[in-house]
Amino acid sequence: MAASCIYDVFLSFSGVDTRKNFTAHLLAALERHDLYTFRDDTKLTRGEEIGPELLKAIEQSKVSIIIFSKSYASSRWCLDELVKIMNCKRRFGQIVIPIFYDIQPSDVRSQRGCYEEAFASHEKRFDMKMVKNWRSALKEAANLSGYDLQNMANGCESTFIETAVREVADKLNLTCLSVADYPVGIKPRVKKLSEFLKLGSNSDNVRIVAIWGIGGSGKTTIAKAMYNRIHRIHEFESSSFLANVGPTSMQPNGFVELQEKLLCDLRLDGNQRIRSQDYGIEVIKRRAWCRKVLLVLDDVDNIRQLRALAINRDLLRSGSIIIVTTRNLSSVSSLQVDEVYKPKELNREESLQLFSWHAFRRDQPVEDYEILSEEVVSYAKGLPLVLEILGSFLSDKTVPEWRSELKKLKKIPNNDVQGKLRLSFDSLDNEQRGLFLDIACFFLLEWTKTCQSKH
Ligand SMILES: Nc1ncnc2c1ncn2[C@@H]1O[C@H](COP(=O)(O)OP(=O)(O)OP(=O)(O)O)[C@@H](O)[C@H]1O
Ligand SMILES: [Mg+2]
Repeated sequence: MAASCIYDVFLSFSGVDTRKNFTAHLLAALERHDLYTFRDDTKLTRGEEIGPELLKAIEQSKVSIIIFSKSYASSRWCLDELVKIMNCKRRFGQIVIPIFYDIQPSDVRSQRGCYEEAFASHEKRFDMKMVKNWRSALKEAANLSGYDLQNMANGCESTFIETAVREVADKLNLTCLSVADYPVGIKPRVKKLSEFLKLGSNSDNVRIVAIWGIGGSGKTTIAKAMYNRIHRIHEFESSSFLANVGPTSMQPNGFVELQEKLLCDLRLDGNQRIRSQDYGIEVIKRRAWCRKVLLVLDDVDNIRQLRALAINRDLLRSGSIIIVTTRNLSSVSSLQVDEVYKPKELNREESLQLFSWHAFRRDQPVEDYEILSEEVVSYAKGLPLVLEILGSFLSDKTVPEWRSELKKLKKIPNNDVQGKLRLSFDSLDNEQRGLFLDIACFFLLEWTKTCQSKH
């Protein structure tokens, strides 16, 4: 793939045949799936020659979708695009996907019927070498594995488009949320969560699962990984990951901001301005819940947040899934959750790995630091946040410095470390921070200093 890819998808199509119907629907579906698509809309108004801008856009795309329709080969412009696309496939390994729209793939491959006529006309007008290039690019592209509208989904365009776009998204392996700098042990935890969600059970009930645990235990991280995994695969009509619901709701106009983000993610904004929280509740009730949705509500800490987002299981369309992360189960009691998932702390091996990534930028301690690392890790009690903090804090220190810090750490009663970290550091107020430091959690203080000096 070219190093500087800007677009996920480049669409090559004949405007005469498909601009206002198939291509428009395909483009809308690509956008729904957050695939950033380049579509040249100026073919009819520009001269015959394909411009450098367009050639560059092809180079900067990860996937090219070619819509072969009846008039595709009559357009010199399309054929030039095609040559460039096949060139990018050879040079950068660009993924190329042909779609056969209202035309037999065999006619395209063998350049028969309207394709034969188009080439006969080109041969009269253009240089033979150029036409030969077009012919060979066409042959090569038409032989790639692609989609034939007549033979898929009984020719139903909307189902066909949805299937094709999902597969394109899978091919691109796009993850939409960054999960963690150094993910460790995510897979088994996501697997456990998917059991609670009963994924693949074909059940059509609404499913609501709470991820519950203390601050820094990895709730949000697991929710993000799960969201990345299922928001495309499953049959959701729309999805949204609302991060930091609690803290956002505390901001001025925070509830309305959350409502707008939800409607925007579900592609229901329609340029509608939410005038007030109550107005927003009604818009969500009326427009959002008639769809099958995947919704992640991250860090809910008060029942008012669920009310403002009109989250009510009786209103949700069957098959919808809600994942909510919280430190306080009573704040989500109104949801009548089906299951509560409490993520397990990282085990010794996982802890050492995560710590090492932050301390040494590799998955295990470097020489001379093995035993010291084991000792430090035992104090983190498997809490990812603490492992990150300790690792980052110690990363540039010498062995004597490690020893000295460990001595201080040993003064903290072993069982207390986790207890004192019931809230992640960011959420503590000044008074709590003082208390926190009094009990000698010097690592956090140093870490904060380091962070502040970076910003
Ligand atoms: N399995 C993991 N692998 C690597 N890093 C992780 C893992 N789990 C969590 N982390 C990291 O630990 C930190 C805390 O994780 P996270 O934000 O998910 O915790 P949380 O339980 O949501 O905390 P809070 O209650 O404060 O919202 C993050 O920086 C995250 O990247
Ligand atoms: Mg969180």
